[in-house]
Amino acid sequence: MLITYILGTRPEIIKLASLIQASVREGLPFSIIHTNQHYAERMDRVFFNELELPEPDHHLGIGSLSHGEQIGRMLTGIERVLLSRRPAVVVVQGDTNSALAGGLAANKLGIPVAHVEAGLRSHDRSMPEEINRVLIDHLSDHLFCPTANQAGYLAAEGIHAGRIHVTGNTIADATLSYAETARQRSGILRRLGLSAGAYGLLTCHRPSNTDDPAHFAALMDAVADIAAASGFPLVFPIHPRLGESQRRAAASHRRIALTDPVGYLDMLALQQNAALILTDSGGVQEEACILRRKCLVLRRTIERPEALENGGCVLPASLEASELRSAARTLLQRPVDWSNPFGDGLAYRRILDILTASAGRLH
Ligand code: UD1
Ligand code: UDP
Repeated sequence: MLITYILGTRPEIIKLASLIQASVREGLPFSIIHTNQHYAERMDRVFFNELELPEPDHHLGIGSLSHGEQIGRMLTGIERVLLSRRPAVVVVQGDTNSALAGGLAANKLGIPVAHVEAGLRSHDRSMPEEINRVLIDHLSDHLFCPTANQAGYLAAEGIHAGRIHVTGNTIADATLSYAETARQRSGILRRLGLSAGAYGLLTCHRPSNTDDPAHFAALMDAVADIAAASGFPLVFPIHPRLGESQRRAAASHRRIALTDPVGYLDMLALQQNAALILTDSGGVQEEACILRRKCLVLRRTIERPEALENGGCVLPASLEASELRSAARTLLQRPVDWSNPFGDGLAYRRILDILTASAGRLH
């Protein structure tokens, strides 16, 4: 019996890597469907190469479309593949359109759905990801939660306790596996002329930050201000969502150094050596905490409140420049007693054990 992993974007590749790697090692029959929601070499192929993942069995070639058309085409393509060889379980990760389409296509065919990173809630229904999460959780048969917090949200929404498992987040599997390799192999600091501990790392790709040019420009002014006050440059690997006007707005600040998106080893090296991380990315918030780097969240809501608990991560009261400046100053000054709530690097083990037990054996 077959496990089918469905993925489509950068974070899904990284966060499903430990499960796919273990499936290869343990000789579990599996297949991979790639929707190609992300397709640029640096958003996709680089992660298959660095994480040594097998070539997907099916490329759906969906690419960038309006959400409705994107999800619709994914549904059709995924259903066709699932009908050609019915898996025992379909595994989706996170909250993207690819994960929603994968879960829904499987559910409609009566194929059990496993949701990795279940139960996250920002309680902000204007985020496309929030709607996706709720829908995926409610159609899933196995819900793998990073921490007990998410299990609590799911129980409160009426999801049967027998479906909910606390496993840790697979981001910890990837981060802990590759942090040392990144330290040894990445040459990104040298290439970008950076010194360890003497720069900030910025990522920004949420529609709420990027899609309104005036808001994005004000945010860049604010983070450049923080960089100037702290006396360091900011490295900004640019997500391809950002168009020409956003790139120009960011590049107009001499303290902000734009780069193309970087591979996973370079990203881990950049994070491990940063004095401060400023981000609206979910995965980067988790990694910052695991790698013990201070993190200022460039958002108004958070679905990973665990990151805030040890004081190493701050959710500002607003995205106004003065608020961001004061949050960054406080964060940079305060001592942090680091702890990692996101997992011990063995989430994949718990997930595979539960899946294999529930399907008898997936062989
Ligand atoms: C998607 C996810 C988001 C996740 C992010 C990870 C949804 C609704 N959103 O957002 O939850 O945090 O991925 O990075 O699923 N583009 C390229 N090349 C690529 C990919 C994208 O040029 O390889 C550009 C296109 O202009 C595209 C835009 O980026 O229209 C947005 O891509 P899309 O996949 O729709 O959403 P993301 O913002 O990447
Ligand atoms: N990442 C990367 N290179 C980059 C930016 C991010 O490898 O240039 C990694 C990052 O380390 C994390 C994941 O991509 O593991 C986060 O993906 P993203 O921010 O695109 O999505 P989100 O986590 O917000 O859904």
